[in-house]
Formats: sequence, structure tokens, C-alpha cells
Amino acid sequence: MSKRIVVVGTGYVGLTSGACFAHLGHRVTCVDSDEEKLKRIASGSLPIYEPGLEDIVRSGLSNGRLVMSSSLADAVALADFVFLCLPTPPAADGSADLTVLTAVAKELGPLLPLGAIVVNKSTVPVRSSRLVEESLGGGHRVVSNPEFLREGSAVQDFLAPDRIVIGSDQQSTGQKVAELYETLGAEIVLTDPESAETIKYAANSFLATKISFVNEIARFCELIGANIDEVLRGLSHDVRIGSTYLSPGPGWGGSCFPKDTRALVASARSLGLAMRVVESAIASNSEHIDHAVNTIRSEAELYEKPTVALLGLSFKAHTDDVRDSPAVQIAMALRSEGHDMRVYDPMARGPETLDHVRVSSLREALDGAHVAGILTEWPEFEEMEPASVRTLMAGISIFDARYVVDVPRYEAVGFRVRRLG
Ligand code: UGA
Repeated sequence: MSKRIVVVGTGYVGLTSGACFAHLGHRVTCVDSDEEKLKRIASGSLPIYEPGLEDIVRSGLSNGRLVMSSSLADAVALADFVFLCLPTPPAADGSADLTVLTAVAKELGPLLPLGAIVVNKSTVPVRSSRLVEESLGGGHRVVSNPEFLREGSAVQDFLAPDRIVIGSDQQSTGQKVAELYETLGAEIVLTDPESAETIKYAANSFLATKISFVNEIARFCELIGANIDEVLRGLSHDVRIGSTYLSPGPGWGGSCFPKDTRALVASARSLGLAMRVVESAIASNSEHIDHAVNTIRSEAELYEKPTVALLGLSFKAHTDDVRDSPAVQIAMALRSEGHDMRVYDPMARGPETLDHVRVSSLREALDGAHVAGILTEWPEFEEMEPASVRTLMAGISIFDARYVVDVPRYEAVGFRVRRLG
């Protein structure tokens, strides 16, 4: 049945959730304090690039099931559910900063109509639902409903989820939240708030650890002379291991894995627990990024006056997000060493400090370069024709951190391709 939903926060989680709930037939109001951003969204032009999102936002706006508002008071007056999708950035010690979340909850408390259910989707340290309950001013229970949306496939992940996790002290309240998703036919994990919040951190930390593990295996292969593709083929047939989140790369990044692994470690430490595995995954990831820098540098040193082309800035393909992107960290490290370089990304802009080395086409990046480092798996890089690349480049070094090029074809035209493994 159609419900009135208010979504507070129009970041990629809030906007995706709001637009998808409207797509499922609910009446949704998205609230944000940034009026300029709301105007942009209301005109159908989104502040973020997320495949498929623009279409469902536009259709929600045109059929009236999705509206934007800068007034929390107006929006919540008739709400059945209020979803909090707010930023929880890392504080200096790695823990999550809940200032925005608690400030919004304080404002929201007195405005809530009787019976409205508050649902927290923001990623928060375990037990924060209780903190939000206190900030609301008492009398309201907060349901935890963590999100598992990947940037670049957030709409698809919302509409076809592996599971939906709902944490509530009251089964009947949790059930009401579950009903919002019922047309998706997904597996619902109904649990308590602390377990739901832990599931979110555990999922991201597990996936990040899995990638750190495979990155280490790739480097072992590189040293011992084994072939990582073959090793992965052998590993992935074991259903206990599986094939997903097992692609080696330049290191994991983005706005979630780095932040959430650090927050879990900080939270455990405050309880006197050292999470050695997750701590090691974080350290391993940072060493892995350094290793990518060293690999590119060692290739560059083969030339007298090398020019390095770095392909990709976003933390993965199909997003323009460069937050905690290994590609940006690699570019910044090489830049600080004074390398002559160009960076190119089909969609993302890097930090301003890279502006003067950023070029607007792949061709420009490769023209006269001695070393090309592929740092993001954009299809454009996979589709490059080895012979044309050879004609453009002055050198013969390719560092394929994303395993996208066909090595024999590149070697056939005289390239030296380095990968990790
Ligand atoms: C991640 C989780 O996958 C989502 O389930 C979660 O909801 C989200 O964080 C969040 O907490 O909001 P996201 O950060 O968008 O999603 O990106 P992923 O696709 O998971 O990739 C994270 C990083 O791991 C990227 O740098 C990516 O390149 C890297 N990666 C991923 C690999 O190096 N190898 C892989 O096999 C998979």
C-alpha cells in the first residue's frame, strides 16, 4: 500500500532511496537544507552521476509521487515514515561524526506526527539508533535500515537487493518498514537495531578485507611467477569463496570502505577490542596503493625524460566520485615527486591540485606518453586499440592496475605490460 515517506538528505543514498520508493508507488518528499541542490534536482538535473537515477527522478517528479522540499516541518506534517539519509563523515580519530544526524533528529523530534516511524539509513556506529532516539527528545523508537547501495549501480541495488536488513525493538514496527519494500520480493532480515547496524559495518569490512586479500595474492603471483587470472579461476569455483569482490585492483577506495573499516576499528578499540584482521586490511590497502606508485615510478625510470599518462580518477568506473580514490592518491603521490604527467577521466574531476595536469581526452593523455597507468576500469580504456595506442605513445610501458587490457595483443605490438600478478 502506498505510504507517505519523507527522506531527509539528498546525497546518493537519500536521493536514490527517495526516487526508488516513489518508483514503487509511495508518495515521497525529499528534504535537504541546500535549496540550490533541490532546485537542480527538481529541474531534473542531478548533482551526482548515477546510472538510471535521472530517469526515475524525472518520472517521479512528473507523476507527482516525488517532490522536493527545504522545509522539514512542512514535509513531515503528514509523514508515515521519515528516513534519515545523512552524512556521517570520519572524525579525526576515524570514528563517525554524528553531528549532522543528531542535529537533524533534534529538529525533527517536535515536528513528528503521532505514529510516524523514524528510520535511520545513515551509516552509524553501533548503538547510534539509541543516540538518535535521545536526540528526537524521547517517545520515538528509531528503526535501523542500513543501505547496501553501490555507487554506479545504486538504483539496481535498491530495486533488486540481495537482502533488506531492518533492526527494530518492536517486531510490528520493523514489519511496517518491511512492507514498504514488499513488492521487491527480497529476503528480509528482521532483527534488533544493534545487529542491523553491525551488519552494515561487517559487510563493508568483509568485502574490503576480501579485496585486500586478493590484492596481496596478486602481488605474491607477481613475485613468484604465478598467473593471477588462473589463480582466480581456481579460487572462484569454490562456492565457499565465490567470484565476487575478488578482482585485484589499485586498492579499494570510495566514500564507504575506507570510512567504515576505520569506524569499525575505532569503535572496537573504544571497547578494548583490537580488530586485527580489519586493521591489517586497512594497512594492506595503503601499502598496496604505495606499491602501485612504485610500479609506475619504476617504469618511468626506464626513460630519460618520462611523461606518465594516468587513466582514471574515480574510485571505480561508472561514477564521478573521487572521494578516497586510490587513483587520485596515486596521481597526487607521483605529482609530488615532480613527474611530468597527464591525467584523464571520462567523467570525474580530481582535486584542484590536479587541474593543471588534467586533459580532456584519452588521445591527449596518451600522446607522447612513455608510461600509461590504467587506474579505473572505464570501458573506454578496455576498448583501446593496441596499435593506435602504440602510434600515439612515445614509450612502451603500460601499467594495467585494473586488468582490463588484453596483454598478448599489447605485447604483439611491442608494449611491456605490467600488472600485479
Ligand atoms: C560499497 C558497498 O559495496 C555497498 O554495498 C555499500 O552500500 C556502500 O559501500 C556503502 O556503504 O554505501 P561502493 O563504495 O559504492 O559500495 O563501491 P564498491 O563497488 O563496493 O567498490 C569499493 C571499492 O572496492 C572500489 O574502489 C572498487 O574499485 C574496489 N573493488 C571492488 C575492487 O578493487 N575489487 C573488487 O572485486 C570489487
